[in-house]
This record gives sequence, structure tokens and C-alpha cells, in this order.
Amino acid sequence: MTVATAQPANSPQNSLAANGRRQSFFEDFGIWKEAPVFIGTTKFEPLPDVKNIMITGGAGFIACWLVRHLTLTYPHAYNIVSFDKLDYCASLNNTRALNDKRNFTFHQGDITNPSEVVDCLERYNIDTVFHFAAQSHVDLSFGNSYGFTHTNVYGTHVLLESAKKVGIKRFIHISTDEVYGEVKDEDDDLLETSILAPTNPYAASKAAAEMLVHSYQKSFKLPVIIVRSNNVYGPHQYPEKIIPKFTCLLNRNQPVVLHGDGSPTRRYLFAGDAADAFDTILHRGQLGQIYNVGSYDEISNISLCSKLLTEMALVPAAVPGDDDFRKWVKYTHDRPFNDHRYAVDGTKLRNLGWEQKTSFADGLRITVEWYRRFGERWWGDISKVLSPFPVVDGYEVHSDKEPITDLPQPTVDAEVQVSKKRKVEASNGQAHA
Ligand SMILES: NC(=O)c1ccc[n+]([C@@H]2O[C@H](COP(=O)([O-])OP(=O)(O)OC[C@H]3O[C@@H](n4cnc5c(N)ncnc54)[C@H](O)[C@@H]3O)[C@@H](O)[C@H]2O)c1
Repeated sequence: MTVATAQPANSPQNSLAANGRRQSFFEDFGIWKEAPVFIGTTKFEPLPDVKNIMITGGAGFIACWLVRHLTLTYPHAYNIVSFDKLDYCASLNNTRALNDKRNFTFHQGDITNPSEVVDCLERYNIDTVFHFAAQSHVDLSFGNSYGFTHTNVYGTHVLLESAKKVGIKRFIHISTDEVYGEVKDEDDDLLETSILAPTNPYAASKAAAEMLVHSYQKSFKLPVIIVRSNNVYGPHQYPEKIIPKFTCLLNRNQPVVLHGDGSPTRRYLFAGDAADAFDTILHRGQLGQIYNVGSYDEISNISLCSKLLTEMALVPAAVPGDDDFRKWVKYTHDRPFNDHRYAVDGTKLRNLGWEQKTSFADGLRITVEWYRRFGERWWGDISKVLSPFPVVDGYEVHSDKEPITDLPQPTVDAEVQVSKKRKVEASNGQAHA
């Protein structure tokens, strides 16, 4: 077993642990022993120049799938170091099943702290970095946008500078489809060459981070790859995002609350397929390239509710508007801005041999089953995060008190904004005339 929780004695983590708040991450109640150990399905010939891989954000959702996948699929080829600050959304349960593996190490550290990052890179002789660590929840970025810039932009900068310092051979930067901004229903799927036009502080911080990655590639020949993925879902996701949050609410026999009218769509990729995509990019991706990871499953938030209600056998055939549906689905005001949809073209990655293998129906079944069994125990008390717009303050999550109604609320998307603006301009014009 190689579990390092390395940190200097006077680090913030330790002082927090001393006052009892962060100690909880290290308490092991054994729940992970009951859970299946999920990984992806791909396996490649190991790369001769890759030996020690640091995965930032490894105790978070998507990265923990890759940590498990690489540790268990390449036990003799790669050593995996999961580097994580253990933020509010992390859980060591996500990787505890690996603690007895010789090629796995957990290292607690903060990507915004240069000495902690360099210490990890040097200590484990890291040659390859997968950079996932981020503030990842759009809703929170409207209220705490400085935190997003600090972690996602400055933290990425620290990693890049540290990677340059130690001569990293591959730096795979995880970005998001949200950097492209909203895609209209009638528009084509976006290629990797499309312009970036983020519309919320989270997406903007991810786009800004990409600019730094690009600059380190050009200025310092840092060997980088950028990955922009659709929404990922599956077991192990902290219940702040729509699928795990709604599943946990329904498990509690509580209604779910949609933002606006529930019409925005997202494309969903099962986490096992995402792990395969990252594995494929590691082994077959070309340095200097950008890869979209695209799913075929585009689903509106309201239709997601129907699928969940049916999957959870709460409503046999849930149709929006029916009494049964209205019992379980409520509404609150929309986000300050809500992209109607994202749509990336994933052909470039599929040309490397990656494919989406898990249907949404299968993925949702696996996910619902997992949250039924573990959702209430995996992260400790999740009650506060289940409110429509929770607020995170440091490591604490607080419930909001947003008004909830039975009726869809006005949506805030680009077209609505434009038509509202035109109306205002027209009425101003009339007033001035
Ligand atoms: N979830 C999605 O659907 C999705 C889609 C596309 C791209 N992404 C990107 O994938 C990455 C992972 O997303 P996720 O949903 O798994 O996130 P997550 O919120 O579940 O996990 C983030 C992890 O990063 C860690 N972290 C945060 N700040 C840190 C810091 N300063 N130092 C070290 N660790 C820190 C947290 O403790 C947590 O374990 C992010 O970069 C996100 O932008 C996510």
C-alpha cells in the first residue's frame, strides 16, 4: 500500500484537520469495500517513455475513473499519483480500492501552491501529467467567480510552470465543451478549430486556462494536448450536478427542481467511456493537438427528469405536464445565463479508435443503482448540496432558499436575451421618436 498524504506540518490542510473539519476525508468507514470498482474498457501497448503519471483532481469524479483505470489496467507499466487538495466535492472513497496497489499513490496537495506541485513532480519523477483539478460547477461560478479564476487559471499556470521546470514529456489538459459557448439548434457540431466564446465564469476560466496551455506550448515547447469533453455522468460524481443530485433527491422521495423551464439540452457521456477517451488520447493522441470528446446522447433537462422518474419506477411513463410528473418536478428561476446547448464534433478522437460504448439507458441504470446504494453515505451528509443553487464557502456547503413553483420559469438563453434586447431597443426608439 502506498498512500502518501504528504503535506508540511503547518499546511492549511493540517490546521483545518486540527480544528476537525478536513480530518473527515481520512476517516474510512469501509463503504468503498461494498462498491464495484469501475474502470474503462480500453487497453493499449504501454508507451516506453511513460512511467510515472500524475493525475490532478484524482479524488474527484472524472479523474478518479482514469486513476482506477490506469492503475488497474497497466499495473506493471505505469505508476499513478493522484494529486488532490481534497476540496468539498472530493472523496478518498473514490480511490480507496487502490490503496493496496503497488503502482498507486495518493498525494494531498494544492495546484495553486507551486512548491507542493514541484515537490510532487520531483518526488515521484513524474513524466506525464493529466490535469483535471478544477472548480467545476457552473452554478457556483456565478457567486464565487474569483475562486474559479484562482483554481482554474492560476492553478493551471502553476502546473504549466512547474511542468516546464521539471521537463514533463506529456501534459494533457482537461478542458470542456463549455469553452465554445452556446450552439444553436440549427448549427453544425463544432470542430476543435472553432472559436472559444464562453458565457459563464466557469467556462471563461477554463478557456483562459487553455490560453495559458497554448502559450506554454508555443513559448516553451511544452508537449501539451487539450481535451474538450461533453458532460460526463456516472457513479462517483458529487451530487451537485444534475444527474446525481436529482437521483439523490428522488431517492429521498423529494421532488427535483429545474432551473428555468428545463429546456436546455446537454450531451452526456458515461464516465467509463470518458476514461477510455483519456486512455486513447494518452496512447494515440498527438502532442500539440486538441481533441473534442463528443457524445451522441443529447437530452433536455426536462426529458432527463422523465427518464429518471421512469428508471426509478416512480412514474411508469413520465410525461411532462401529467399530474404524476408535476408531483416530482418543480421549478425555480433560471441561472443568470444558461447556454441552451453545447455540441462538439468528436470525429477527430473517433479517428484514433475511440468510441462511445455505453448507451444512455445503460449508463443511467448503472448510475441510479449506484446512488441508491451509496449516494447517501459516500460523501457524508449531502443534504445541503441538494438545494437548487447551493453556496460553497471554503470547504462548507450551504443550502439556498430559492423560491420553488409548480410552473416553468422564464428561460435565460441567448435567443431570449437577444429578443428581449430588441424589444427594449424598439421601445426606447419609440420613446425617443
Ligand atoms: N463533469 C463534467 O461533466 C465535465 C465535463 C467536461 C469537462 N470537465 C472538466 O473535467 C475536470 C474534472 O471535472 P469533475 O466534474 O470530475 O470535477 P470534480 O469537481 O468532481 O473534481 C474536481 C477535483 O479537483 C480537486 N481540486 C479542486 N481544486 C484543487 C486544487 N486547488 N488543488 C488540487 N486539487 C483541487 C477537488 O478536490 C476535486 O477532487 C475539470 O477540469 C472539469 O472542468 C468536467
